[in-house]
Amino acid sequence: MRHLLLSVTAVTLLAGSSVGAPAPPMSAPTPAEARAFVAKAEKDLAEVSVYANKAEWVYETDITSDTSDLTAKAGAEQTEMATRYAKQAARFDHVKVDDVTRRKLLLLKIGLVLPSPDRPGAAKEMGDIEARMGTLYATGAVTIDGKTLHLEDLEDELAKTRDPAKAKEIWEKWRRVSPPMKADYAKLTALANEGSRGIGFKDTGALWRAGYDMTPDQFAALSDKLWGQVEPFYTNLHCYVRTRLNAKYGDVVQPRTGPIRADLLGNMWAQEWGNIYDVVAPANSPGMGYDLTQQLVAHGYDAPKMVKTAENFYISLGFDPWPKTFWDRSLITRPRDREVQCHASAWDVDNKDDIRLKACIHVNADDFFTVHHELGHNLYQRAYAPQPFLFENGANDGFHEAIGDFAGLNALTPGYLKQLGLIDTVPGPDADIPYLLRQAMDGIAFLPFGLLVDKWRWEVFSGQVTPEHYNDAWWALVLQYQGMVPPGPRPADAFDPGAKNHIATSVPYARYFLARIYEYQFYRAACRQAGWKGPLNRCSVYGDKAVGAKFNKLLAMGQSKPWPEALEAFTGEKDIDASAIADYFAPLNAWLTVQNKGQQCGWKS
Ligand code: ASP
Ligand code: SER
Ligand code: ZN
Repeated sequence: MRHLLLSVTAVTLLAGSSVGAPAPPMSAPTPAEARAFVAKAEKDLAEVSVYANKAEWVYETDITSDTSDLTAKAGAEQTEMATRYAKQAARFDHVKVDDVTRRKLLLLKIGLVLPSPDRPGAAKEMGDIEARMGTLYATGAVTIDGKTLHLEDLEDELAKTRDPAKAKEIWEKWRRVSPPMKADYAKLTALANEGSRGIGFKDTGALWRAGYDMTPDQFAALSDKLWGQVEPFYTNLHCYVRTRLNAKYGDVVQPRTGPIRADLLGNMWAQEWGNIYDVVAPANSPGMGYDLTQQLVAHGYDAPKMVKTAENFYISLGFDPWPKTFWDRSLITRPRDREVQCHASAWDVDNKDDIRLKACIHVNADDFFTVHHELGHNLYQRAYAPQPFLFENGANDGFHEAIGDFAGLNALTPGYLKQLGLIDTVPGPDADIPYLLRQAMDGIAFLPFGLLVDKWRWEVFSGQVTPEHYNDAWWALVLQYQGMVPPGPRPADAFDPGAKNHIATSVPYARYFLARIYEYQFYRAACRQAGWKGPLNRCSVYGDKAVGAKFNKLLAMGQSKPWPEALEAFTGEKDIDASAIADYFAPLNAWLTVQNKGQQCGWKS
């Protein structure tokens, strides 16, 4: 977890000489010097990462002013060291070195999320801001009907309510957590930009877009291209869901045309809509045949059982059981006696085998998927642990997010749920469209959100959007990509982006957009390897050790090679490609087109 999140400060570059000694003549460094530099940087960064990870773990699982100070300090130290090395790496730009050293030099320059300026105290200031914003988000609580609720309880309420007034109340109240973050967010942005320029990037957005084995501009173009491929399908789904919301709530709440009201989709950010599946389920059809949340509850699942179930899926593919320390050290439910950061995350504390999960699990379908997602991160972390430290990461950050999502696609199939004993019978072919619709309500609905979160940050980092326009720019993107509007006018002090975890805690987001595309490529490849002949949505590779062994080839490479090579190792494909997601959902897309006949699909932005 933490070592994906280096934030960095620079100190003045002393070109290889020690302070006080006479300056040596400026000669080009040798390949041997480059290798020695990389070896030292790698050793030092590995060491500081363990200490910073532990400080962050203690903070996130027990938020106090002390733990917050300690993690800010540890993060600042990590930042200072990483920036020094990022800057120094540029000395070797023109030295002829072996491929491994070249790649490590590159990773030293781009492996940072929030670089900081070259001034004493700047890294600490950034660490303090990050801790303040993270704490506001994590400890945010809201009173509804006289009860004080944390985010995951609000999410449950919003998932369940079918009362638009209640939905609006929950949605608006949660967004009161973020106005106090706005000034800090602006300050952090300015500091990170200064830091990014110091290590050779035009702004922090360009640094983030540099992590994909192509130029930042090429990555922006690639995201747009992928979006263009899936957008018609999204519009089709949007159109169908809007019609059903209109039928349920009437024209005043949800008009038949134009954007959708963002609080009606059963999710705090309208990023996944599966929770309102009952509202959109096909009429006159037997339906999916079961409700996973109800089945989990009926079968007595609790948090440990949810995690064990996910672990078991990976074990079935031939992977080792999770270590004992995982069970001793993980946090899987919200403790009653202290504040914690509940947003689910997977940790690799010592870059060896001290993997952990931190989540506040509720027994429901969303969290069933999330545990598979998080353990997918752990699987990757363990598989690449033998690599040198600088290669201990995903082939790109989208890969890291896609591993567990791929497992989750298998784990949600009715055939597999029956193997688990969660359902008694596997529904027949009539259930395929309902099932695909349920899947699309999460997987397809997510795509525009997955894209727009960082579109907004790219605009903020580039200066195109200034603090007084933060909120308007956010809603312009929500309207353009998601086709949604807030349930009412937003207050003048609103800072709605900050009410999303990854903005409050500075986690880049394009990774999730990519993951939603990769996961179907992984899944299609796995099902082909397994010789699956039926409809793709019914395929599960549970128990297939040959698929597991091949998957491990991708995992074990970590970040040692450009990502197309990792993709090829498992799928035989070299490019990210929306055809797999299109294949998976093709029957649903055709069905939606029929349902939408006579509707005026789309919206004006
Ligand atoms: N940590 C995950 C996400 O941010 C899981 C989640 O909470 O949905 O990717
Ligand atoms: N886990 C990510 C989020 O919570 C993507 O689903 O936003
Ligand atoms: Zn994740």
